[in-house]
Amino acid sequence: MATREDFICPKCGGSTWVLDKHGDSVPCECRARRIRRARTKGLVTTIPRRFGGLTISDDGRQITDHGRPLNFAPEIARAVLKYCRTINEQLAQGRGLWFEGDTGTGKTTLAMVVSKAALKAGHSVAIYSMPRLLAQIRNTFDADSDSSYAELFKQLTAVDLLHLDDVGAEQQTEWVLEQLYSIVNERYEDGRAVMITTNLGIDDLRRQIGERTVSRLMEMCGDALPLYGSDRRVEFDPARPEPFATAEDEPTARRIAREPAAGEA
Ligand SMILES: Nc1ncnc2c1ncn2[C@@H]1O[C@H](COP(=O)(O)OP(=O)(O)OP(=O)(O)O)[C@@H](O)[C@H]1O
Ligand SMILES: [Mg+2]
Repeated sequence: MATREDFICPKCGGSTWVLDKHGDSVPCECRARRIRRARTKGLVTTIPRRFGGLTISDDGRQITDHGRPLNFAPEIARAVLKYCRTINEQLAQGRGLWFEGDTGTGKTTLAMVVSKAALKAGHSVAIYSMPRLLAQIRNTFDADSDSSYAELFKQLTAVDLLHLDDVGAEQQTEWVLEQLYSIVNERYEDGRAVMITTNLGIDDLRRQIGERTVSRLMEMCGDALPLYGSDRRVEFDPARPEPFATAEDEPTARRIAREPAAGEA
C-alpha cells in the first residue's frame, strides 16, 4: 500500500527545491512539511482514533465530538479555546497546559483538542501516554532497535509540543524519574512547550515524578486546569455518537452500558 512517505511531490520531484521565474532555486512548498515529517519520523504524532471526531466550532466557542457539543466548566473551556486560538504565540513562548483531575472527566479529550489545533496550525507534536513513551525509550536500548536513544531524545525535545498523557500513571523507578526529568528539563531550557494530563494532585505528583520535574512543569504550564467530577465514561449517554466502526472495536464498558439487563425487554 502506498504511504505518505512514498508520495513524490509533482512540483519538485522530491528534491524539495524548485526554480522561480528568474531561474533561481527556491524551496518548494512541500519542503517545510518534509523537514517536519523527517524530524518526527518514528514518533507518535497522530491523534488516536477515539479522539478523531473532536473539533472546535467555526465561531471558536464550542468543543464538539462528531458534531455534538461537549460541556466543560466555562473557565476550563475558555482557557483551552483561548490557547488553541493563540497556538502560534503560546508555542513560540514555550507555554503549555496542565490538566489535572478525576478519571473520565475529559482531560485527555481537551489535550487532544489542543494537539489537533497545533497540528492544524502546522506545528510538530509528539503525543504519548507516559507508559508508551517509556516503552519506546526502553526499546532504543534493544540491540536490534531502529533508532538510538540519543536520536529519540533529540526528537522528543525538538518537537514544538510534547503532549504527555497520564503522567504519574507509570511505574516509578529511578530510571523513569531520570528519563522524564531529562526530557522536561531539556525542553524547559529550550523554551519548548509541554502539555500534560494527570490524575494526581500536585503533592502526589511531586512524590511520583519528583520535585524538580514538577517545578519546571509548573513554570512552563502555569496552574493546573482542574477537571473533577463524575466519570463521563460511566455516565452513559445514549445520544453520544458512536466513535467506532464495528462492535468488536467498542470498549466493553460502553457495550455493557447499552445492553439490556437480564429480564429487561
Ligand atoms: N464534557 C464532556 N461531555 C461529554 N462527554 C465527555 C466530556 N468530556 C469527556 N467526555 C467523554 O468521556 C470519556 C472520557 O474522557 P477522557 O478520556 O478525556 O477522560 P480523562 O479525564 O482523560 O480520563 P482518565 O483520567 O481516565 O484518563 C470519553 O469518551 C469522552 O468522549
Ligand atoms: Mg485520560
